[in-house]
Amino acid sequence: MPSTLSPDTLIRDVVETHKGAEAVFAAHGLPCAGCHVSTRESIRGGAAVHNLDLAALMADLERFVADGTVPPSRRKLAGPHAPPMERQRKPGIEHVVAVMSGKGGVGKSTVTALLAVALQRRGYRVGILDADITGPSQAKLFGVTARLYKGADGKPHPPVTRTGIPLMSMNLILDNENEAVIWRGPMVSSAIKQFYGDLEWGTLDYLLVDLPPGTSDAPLTVLQALPVDGTVLVSTPQGLATMIVSKAIKLVQKLDARVMGLVENMAYFVDPSGARLEPFGPSKGVQLVVESGAPLLAQLPIDPVLAALCDEGRIEEYRSPDYDALADNFVKVLPAPEAARTRGA
Ligand SMILES: Nc1ncnc2c1ncn2[C@@H]1O[C@H](COP(=O)(O)OP(=O)(O)OP(=O)(O)O)[C@@H](O)[C@H]1O
Ligand SMILES: [Mg+2]
Repeated sequence: MPSTLSPDTLIRDVVETHKGAEAVFAAHGLPCAGCHVSTRESIRGGAAVHNLDLAALMADLERFVADGTVPPSRRKLAGPHAPPMERQRKPGIEHVVAVMSGKGGVGKSTVTALLAVALQRRGYRVGILDADITGPSQAKLFGVTARLYKGADGKPHPPVTRTGIPLMSMNLILDNENEAVIWRGPMVSSAIKQFYGDLEWGTLDYLLVDLPPGTSDAPLTVLQALPVDGTVLVSTPQGLATMIVSKAIKLVQKLDARVMGLVENMAYFVDPSGARLEPFGPSKGVQLVVESGAPLLAQLPIDPVLAALCDEGRIEEYRSPDYDALADNFVKVLPAPEAARTRGA
């Protein structure tokens, strides 16, 4: 491994050789350490993809290697990297992250659930708010049927999953969970705000908010009324999904929220012979990285085992290194410093 840096050095090699160099990339608006693309991207390529000043980035990296200096943020404080707007932040909840896509059926709910499971296994305190009021799925995925309950403090608490993840979903307050919820936009918005504001979530490092498809009232409410620190956009390599996700990226940016990362779900399938197939076509990850300026946090395979566990309400039993990598990249992009300090996470 070369000890001197050149624009053609792989980003991954830089951060592996020089501990802490992620901070230099992050200062330039390139959360490279959390980016799946960085595993094969050079400094030059990363700068081109993210439209960065290569010479300034090289100068800062060389300075870091020489004396450990991390530069101040070189990012523009507008558009995709704007800081979260200060809304009624709820004490005890460190970060609120929305999972959306615009497109239906790409795996938002599955990714939300498995990201929560992987974060919890790493020692983070995580909760799930199912903001899909008319088509909730989180309670089903986890097999949770317990209701909202009143704690000793007299406040309403969300039920918890088998492994202890607090979860709130519309089915948990319906008398008949197969009942269709026909609600107009303002009622949907008010339910989401109440789920967030009125429930006693306890202390959380991350509250993950699972959004319904589309760019209707629910996503708008979450992005405008909740103190969202970042949005994870889920897509598949299919052209139509990519097109709709591009729209969602624009919506997030218009609302001055931050796309913190992308997840390409159903990216490939490994057949019994071990061959890697791409039923939805080649990856569109780099295209979405360019459009959003956000890192690709993971490319996830189609896995029939996962689909079966989802149907059986046993999603917490699923294990895969792909979701561990997703959680690791997620935490790099949006750290929970308190958790890292107290639990060595
Ligand atoms: N990687 C995967 N491998 C296998 N099956 C998957 C995968 N991701 C999602 N699925 C399955 O695809 C279906 C759709 O997933 P999911 O409900 O998570 O999508 P969604 O984007 O939340 O949908 P909606 O837009 O309706 O909310 C589910 O049956 C789920 O079990
Ligand atoms: Mg869903």
